[in-house]
Amino acid sequence: MTLVAIGACYIDTILTTPHYPGEDEKLRASKISRRRGGNCPNTLEVLGQLLQYGPSNTESSLNLITVLPSKASVASHQIQSSLGNMVRLDSCIYRETFNEPASSYIIASQVTGSRTIVNYNELPEMTCAEFISAVESLHTVTDRPWFHFEGRAPDVTLECIHYIRNHFPRAEISVEVEKPGRPGLQELADEADVVLYSKGWAQYHGYTSAEDCLRDQSLKTSQASLLCCTWGHDGAAALEPKTGNFAHVPAHTEGLGVIDTIGAGDTFNAGLLYGLIYRGQDWDFRKRLGFANLLAGLKVTQEGFANLQ
Ligand code: FRU
Repeated sequence: MTLVAIGACYIDTILTTPHYPGEDEKLRASKISRRRGGNCPNTLEVLGQLLQYGPSNTESSLNLITVLPSKASVASHQIQSSLGNMVRLDSCIYRETFNEPASSYIIASQVTGSRTIVNYNELPEMTCAEFISAVESLHTVTDRPWFHFEGRAPDVTLECIHYIRNHFPRAEISVEVEKPGRPGLQELADEADVVLYSKGWAQYHGYTSAEDCLRDQSLKTSQASLLCCTWGHDGAAALEPKTGNFAHVPAHTEGLGVIDTIGAGDTFNAGLLYGLIYRGQDWDFRKRLGFANLLAGLKVTQEGFANLQ
């Protein structure tokens, strides 16, 4: 099964601090770490592990389409090696005149577990023409490929989705609706088969719970067969608009402390895509939601994404 994830790739610099600093405060961090980030790369990193140790009959190819700085840059090398051999980067778009990757500076507060992200990205966004040539250059595309979009640059993403619908009529499309206040995400949700909402986006739009978000969104998403929403400490919910099936699961923390919440949503998405794409009918709707929630819960109790399988 071919999975293609399309979204930005970051280098994250994470400062762990005892609490979130006040404006103009001086605060000593207890730790600094650097790692590759980005919603889709994080999701693929987790999926790569699940597939490596999962059922052996999963003929799979995980592909990332992202914009990177020049091929020879230190950052592009770091990014390549961070994704190991489970994720193909052959169809990435290199900006040869840039050396700096998209960067996030993250304050991870120990007292609340919050992660405050400030990012900077000077790499020009992917165009639809670049997306099409990236798709054409994919190593293999199976009969029913899956395309997963981080909802960014909505106009371009919408064009890309139309291209897929025309050229791969059997493809499934999922869209992540995450960034609060980014216009155009509602229109993307309306085009997708599966939509993954974040708590931040839902709250920005006035929803007070995952269920509230999903019930209302089911009236605004004409094609979707599955809608999911994560809600931090309050777990996650899923709704199948076509059958009316609804489920909510409490957050899974196993009583362990919260260590690292960066990428918890990306991990949830990996768990959900794994259930949908690679476990098919073996897992029902509730099992898929439960697994994604369990995986995200495990992730927050450890640093980074390694050894989640
Ligand atoms: C976590 C994350 C980070 C990245 C940022 C981009 O979800 O993907 O790895 O820096 O969000 O918005």
